[in-house]
Order: sequence, then structure tokens, then C-alpha cells
Amino acid sequence: MKTDPLARFSVSVPRKLLRELDAMSRDKGYHNRSKAIADMIRDYLVEHRQQLAHQEIAGTITIVYDHHKPHVQEILTRLQHDHLDTIVSALHVHLDPHHCLEVLVVRGKAAKIKTMAHRLIVARGVKHGKLTVTSTGKDLPG
Ligand code: NI
Repeated sequence: MKTDPLARFSVSVPRKLLRELDAMSRDKGYHNRSKAIADMIRDYLVEHRQQLAHQEIAGTITIVYDHHKPHVQEILTRLQHDHLDTIVSALHVHLDPHHCLEVLVVRGKAAKIKTMAHRLIVARGVKHGKLTVTSTGKDLPG
């Protein structure tokens, strides 16, 4: 991939805020302020884009459920079969005699993924669920 040329710009912020930014950057292991700020901008862009329903996003849906609860497995399997184009991969782990952990890797339009994630998370028997959204990488500058 071609590297995007760097651009310099100056920003005015309160001095104390800059000191806190530098302290946080050090804590997080950044060697320079520019890299820390660039990562913060990317993170903010990803967050902004997932609010836009038509944006293409990628992410993971993690759910924990008790497979002894009636119908839970049927519901979850049906939901996954209904979204073949969105679910790229699935991982199932048997946590203990009762609980299963499932991680679905998803890709598609933000609105569609959010709706599907919500249906999985609120399904009866699901104890905890979370959608983590990231970028597909294509629309995010290096
Ligand atoms: Ni299991």
C-alpha cells in the first residue's frame, strides 16, 4: 500500500491539556505525540463512521449463553443462517458444562450489523453480548 505523505498542522490547546496528552501518550507507550494523535483521530473516525447507517463496517459480536435454556441454540443458529452474507466467520467455545461463548466476525452495512447484533444480544438465554466495531480498513488513511 502506498504511504500517505505526512502533513503538518498546528493546533492550539490549553497547556494543561497538552501536558496530560503527553503523559497519557507515554503511559500508552507512544514514542511521539504525532503518532498518538493520529491514532486518536483514526479511532474517532471509526466511531463516527459506525453511526452512519450506510457505512461499510467490520467487527465482532461476542455472546455468552447457557445452552441448556430452551430454544436458545435454535434461535441463535437461525439468526446466523439468516445472515450468511454478513457473518464471515464464527468461533464457538464450550466454557463450562452450561455456558457457551460465541464470537462472530461480521462485515457489512452498519445499520444491518447493528440490527443483527441487537437481535442476538437480546435473544432469550443470552447472558451477555457485545458488538465491537472496527473499520474495514479501506476507508481509513494509514
Ligand atoms: Ni458450547
